[in-house]
Amino acid sequence: MKEKSELTGTRVDRGIKLLREMSEEGKAEILLGVEAFVTLLMQYRCAIREMETKLNVLNEEFSLRHERNPIDSIESRVKDPSSIIEKMNRKGHELTVENIEAKLNDVAGIRVICSFVGDIYYLASMLSAQDDLEVLKVKDYIKHPKKNGYRSLHLIIQIPIFLSDQKKYMRVEVQFRTIAMDFWASLDHKLKYKKNIKNADLIVEELRKCADIISTVDNRMQEIRDMIEKGESE
Ligand code: GTP
Ligand code: MG
Repeated sequence: MKEKSELTGTRVDRGIKLLREMSEEGKAEILLGVEAFVTLLMQYRCAIREMETKLNVLNEEFSLRHERNPIDSIESRVKDPSSIIEKMNRKGHELTVENIEAKLNDVAGIRVICSFVGDIYYLASMLSAQDDLEVLKVKDYIKHPKKNGYRSLHLIIQIPIFLSDQKKYMRVEVQFRTIAMDFWASLDHKLKYKKNIKNADLIVEELRKCADIISTVDNRMQEIRDMIEKGESE
């Protein structure tokens, strides 16, 4: 804790020093930029709220009809400023507020964790059918897993938010995955941030094998679920 606040403190001090050395014109320019950036992040937060509402409506309606929830949990986040800056630099885009909005698809991100694979496709297709939003991109890493074994369904969705003076379309990245896929992805994510790790090749191979086992279990659980539901309706 202490280390982090010292770090932040140093950065803030440096920022203030830079501002003091700047011309009045430069300072005004920066303040306008910050205001536009803060406004944009607020708009992404609103887009997340709209998407969460849509997901919660589908969840509630489904649970009334089928006596179970298709959604286990929802996590959402607006990308933090340092990650936005890092990604813009990595992709070679000039850092402007307009560019952040134009070039990044994942400033607003929602992760929808489902119990069953079938629920993922149900929710994705119900969302896609709604006429106020547009699905700009689909990446189906469930049907086409990544080489490391990563599985999830990713949609880039464009959704309108209604502000005091305008209707604005915002992009949100929605990731759908099962509880088991999420468990796998969180362990895989840990590996990404470890540098010079011993036995990295072995770990990668073990993770890939686990991803296959998880996929088999997810599919079998779905089959059992289907059998139970079929049994109920007979
Ligand atoms: P950008 O990263 O947005 O430039 O595009 P991309 O083409 O890499 O997007 P993709 O849809 O492949 O991945 C977007 C997000 O999915 C990532 O930020 C992660 O949250 C998640 N993701 C993708 N691949 C992996 C993976 O191999 N492991 C884990 N744990 N998460 C992944
Ligand atoms: Mg990526």
